[in-house]
Formats: sequence, C-alpha cells, structure tokens
Amino acid sequence: MKNTLIAPSVLAADFANLQRDIEMINASEADWFHIDIMDGVFVPNISFGMPVLEAIKRHATKTIDVHLMIVEPDKYISTFKKLGADILTVHIEACPHLHRTIQAIKTEGMKAGVSLNPHTSVDLLEDVINDIDMVLIMSVNPGFGGQSFIENTYDKVKKLKALIDRKGASTIIEIDGGVTNKNAKQLAEAGADVLVAGSYVFGAADPIATVADLKKITAL
Ligand code: DX5
Ligand code: ZN
Repeated sequence: MKNTLIAPSVLAADFANLQRDIEMINASEADWFHIDIMDGVFVPNISFGMPVLEAIKRHATKTIDVHLMIVEPDKYISTFKKLGADILTVHIEACPHLHRTIQAIKTEGMKAGVSLNPHTSVDLLEDVINDIDMVLIMSVNPGFGGQSFIENTYDKVKKLKALIDRKGASTIIEIDGGVTNKNAKQLAEAGADVLVAGSYVFGAADPIATVADLKKITAL
C-alpha cells in the first residue's frame, strides 16, 4: 500500500497565531511542515525568513521541508541546516551549478531537493536524478498560495516517474500548488509521493479533518 505524505504549507497559516497553527499540524495526520522562503527576486513576492523559521522549529515536531524560492541559494545552505531544515529544495532555474549545490546540501547532512517551475522540463534532470533525494514539481507558478492547479502536472509527474525508474533512482516526487481533494488521488496515482497543501488545509473549517481526508484519498 502506498502512503502518500501530506505537507501543509505554513505560508497559509495565521501568522498572528503561528504557535497555535503549528501545534494543530503536530496534532494532525500531516507528515511534514512545508516552509516557503521567497526573496522578492526569484519570485515576485516576499514571504518570511530565518527568524520565523527559527520560531516554527521551536514548536514543530515533524520533518521540516524548506522550499527556497530565492536566487543564490548556495549562500544560505549552512544557515538553513542550523535553523533545522531536514530537506532543502532549491530551484533548478536559480542554480547555474546545480550539481555543486546538491552536493553542498548533502554535505551539510540534509536531504537535497530540486524544484522545477511549470515551464521547466523534467528532461533537464537526466544527469543528476541519481544524486537528488526529491524533485518538487511546481503545479502553479511559484510566489503565491491559493492559485489554480495546472493540469499538465499529471503528465509531468508520469514523465518524471518514468525517468526515475529508468535510471534506477530512489528519488521521491513532491507536488506543490493548488492541491485539493479534487486532484490529490490522481497525483498519487501518477507517481507523487508528497503533496503540499496550503490554502486548502489552513482555509478549511476543520484543517485536521481536511488533512485526514487527504491522507485517506491518497492511500492507494
Ligand atoms: C507557492 C508555494 C506553495 C504554496 C502552496 O509558491 O511554493 O508552497 O504555499 O499554496 P496552495 O496550496 O495554497 O497553492
Ligand atoms: Zn512551496
């Protein structure tokens, strides 16, 4: 049986009640905390940075999955390790020396993730897929929560899954953006291992029940 992981995106939490929302996710069936770091340069929005992650880490009891939407991520790899990141994901579009960046993340003792924007082909991962712990496929254009899911994502997941299998890699696949109960099962069937959900979870009347429902419908 396949256990699809659910990673609520803290970007959609109530920042004035952050401890409450973190404890709610601790108490839920969610598997990871997804942390979106935006710099206003790589993406047209600024989210939050190191002090907020430090505060989240003080309360979070689950895996910390950090998604860097920033230019020059190499500058901050050791900082994110110190802040408690378990998985550090960088964007391929922001990394001219991707192989070096992946090695630096792993040398720090974190899992290395690589994210692809909607226009970026999975074929670009051919020569590094065996070095990567996770590929994060963006199913919206990065920068904002609450956007609509891009339908082409299913084909992209299947194509990536085929590449991973062909290369004998153990890389897992995470999907980020517009995930709801309408697309979660189909994503899991296509090959997704981790689903990020922000507004769908935190905007729900009962986020704990919403996470439980996502877990249930994606258990294949
Ligand atoms: C978008 C972020 C996502 C976002 C997801 O740039 O990377 O993680 O928080 O939010 P929803 O689930 O609302 O699309
Ligand atoms: Zn994200």
